[in-house]
Order: sequence, then structure tokens, then C-alpha cells
Amino acid sequence: MSPYDPDHDPILDVRALSKQFPVGTFFSSKQVHAVEDVSFAVKRGEVAALVGESGSGKTTTLRLIARLIPATSGEILFKGNDVLKSEPRQASLDYRRKVQLIFQDPFGSLNPAHTIEHHISRPLQIHKLASSRQEVHDQVCDLLETVELKPAHEIANRYPHQLSGGQRQRVAIARALAVQPELILADEPISMLDVSIRMGVLNLIHRLKEERGISFVYITHDLASARYIADQTAVMYAGHMVEGGASEEIIAHPAHPYTQLLLSAVPDPRAGLKTDKNSQARGEVPSLIDPPPGCPFAARCLRVKEACRQQMPEPKTIATDHWVRCHLY
Ligand SMILES: Nc1ncnc2c1ncn2[C@@H]1O[C@H](COP(=O)(O)OP(=O)(O)O)[C@@H](O)[C@H]1O
Ligand SMILES: [Mg+2]
Repeated sequence: MSPYDPDHDPILDVRALSKQFPVGTFFSSKQVHAVEDVSFAVKRGEVAALVGESGSGKTTTLRLIARLIPATSGEILFKGNDVLKSEPRQASLDYRRKVQLIFQDPFGSLNPAHTIEHHISRPLQIHKLASSRQEVHDQVCDLLETVELKPAHEIANRYPHQLSGGQRQRVAIARALAVQPELILADEPISMLDVSIRMGVLNLIHRLKEERGISFVYITHDLASARYIADQTAVMYAGHMVEGGASEEIIAHPAHPYTQLLLSAVPDPRAGLKTDKNSQARGEVPSLIDPPPGCPFAARCLRVKEACRQQMPEPKTIATDHWVRCHLY
């Protein structure tokens, strides 16, 4: 293998990643196939969206990348190194600093008993990024200004309940930024926010990518927000990645019947970010416990063929920067 080239090689390269959760009892053990053979790569300063309904395996994929849970199989290359091959302990400090997570519920990730300053200064202290009290305070204020929370010294003294949902999510982003990450894994960061403030948080993510070259894996069940923010988009269904490529291309020419269904649930591009409930309304992801062979969408697909029930097709390139896993192609 040639050495890692930061200008050309992806910062994150996920290869054939799978996760099965054992469920049931000792006598009837079954497997939940939460993530199956998922591959994608993210370049430096790029936003990659993973889009899919609830239960499609998005959060599990992020938790695997963050090394919160062990993978069943596959590889996760971060700057050319397979992080799954290194001991979790040994890899943890450096990797956990460079790869940060942002969750759906900003309130759940903040301790109500502590001030905003406390939350943001903790990672600075843990990773020894500031020494004196004054230095810590200055950096906290800088970070709050970076995420457009002003006046920073005033916000720093507040408690989480004294902020709005959007402000709390910005605090969570500031805390992630404190350790100068190279990759941020954002799990539906706007889905619990008021529609009116979602755009602001997306614009902040966009600015961080542009100005600081931070890469993002952005999870959403809403194709409209993926189109708005992501350079590339991959569509997940029942643990499988079924289609992927440049976001513009996927939206303009959706190939997989499931992507087409998701898109038909976005009625008006100008309504954009307001449409996320629709995509969930049309049926459910099938049971992931010991699933039958073939394409997981076969049961819901209007264009299903015999082959679809036999085997999951390999990814096929159908245009520049556009691939699909579907027997129609
Ligand atoms: N710890 C676990 N044990 C068993 N099943 C799990 C566990 N975590 C997730 N799952 C299952 O894996 C599937 C994918 O879940 P998840 O990754 O949370 O999907 P998404 O984030 O797309 O909604 C779901 O069927 C979920 O019930
Ligand atoms: Mg999830």
C-alpha cells in the first residue's frame, strides 16, 4: 500500500463495514443485521451525508466509526491507518480527539448542573490545550464566537436550560471544535431543532468545512438538507448502502427505486427543510433479524424482479460520481 497522501487520499475510508447485534436467548440466538457491507470515503473538507429512514443503520454506522462499539467486520481507515486494527485504548486519545461526535439531542449531551464554560473547558483541560485559567477562558470565548454565540462571556456563564435548542446545539459544536478535530460525525444535528433555526446550524457546518477544512459525516433522514449541505450523499436502506455519489447528481438523477421514493416525498425544493416527516410515512424498514437474501427493498419495490429476491447486486457505476446497487441497472 502506498503511503497516505493528505492532498488526495480520503481522510476517512470505510470499507465493507458490517455490524450484527446478537439478540434473543442462549437457546434461540439471532442476529440483528444493523449495518451490512457499508463502504464510503470522505475527503478533507468535504461533507458526506448518509440519508435513510429511521432504523436504516445510520447511527450504528457513526458509532462504529467513533469506535463506541466494535465492528463485526470491515475496515475503517483514518488518514490511511486502519483504526480497527489498533488497540481501542492505545488509539483512543488521539483518534477520539481528531474525530468528534455531535448528537441529535443537544440537551441530552449537556449536564444541566454545569455552565457552558465548564462544558467547553473540559476538553481543553483533558487534552491539555490550554494551561492557565485565563487561557482556558479566552479559548472558551473564542469558540463561542466561532459558533456565533454572542456576547461570548455572557453565554459562557449560562446554564444549558437558559439557552434555546439552537444555541445548545451550537454549544455542542463549540465543544467538539475545542479539540481541533479533523472529522466531525453529526447524527441528525438539526432534526430536533425548530425549523426556523435549522438553516443557521447547517450554514455553520458549511462555514467550518470551508474555513477550517473540517470533514463531516452528516446523518439525516431528509434528502433536502443533504442536498443543501453535502458534497456527496449515500442512501441507506435496512443497513445497506443502496446508492451514492455527488449530491447534485443523486438528487437530479436518482436511480434506486428507494431513492426515488425518498425524493418523491420532498414535494417542493423551496419548502426544503420542512419536509422530513414525509419520507418516514411511506412504509417501514423490514425486520433486520436474520433477513432473507436479496435486496432488502424488494418487498416494497414496485419494479421488483426475480433476481432481487435472490441476491443483493454489486455496486454499479452509472455516471460520473454516481453508483447504485440495483438489479435494474
Ligand atoms: N445495541 C443494539 N442491539 C440490538 N439492535 C440494535 C442495537 N442498536 C441498534 N440496533 C438496531 O439496528 C438497527 C439500526 O439502528 P440505527 O443504527 O439506530 O438506525 P438509524 O440511526 O438509521 O435510525 C435498528 O433495527 C436497531 O433496532
Ligand atoms: Mg439514528
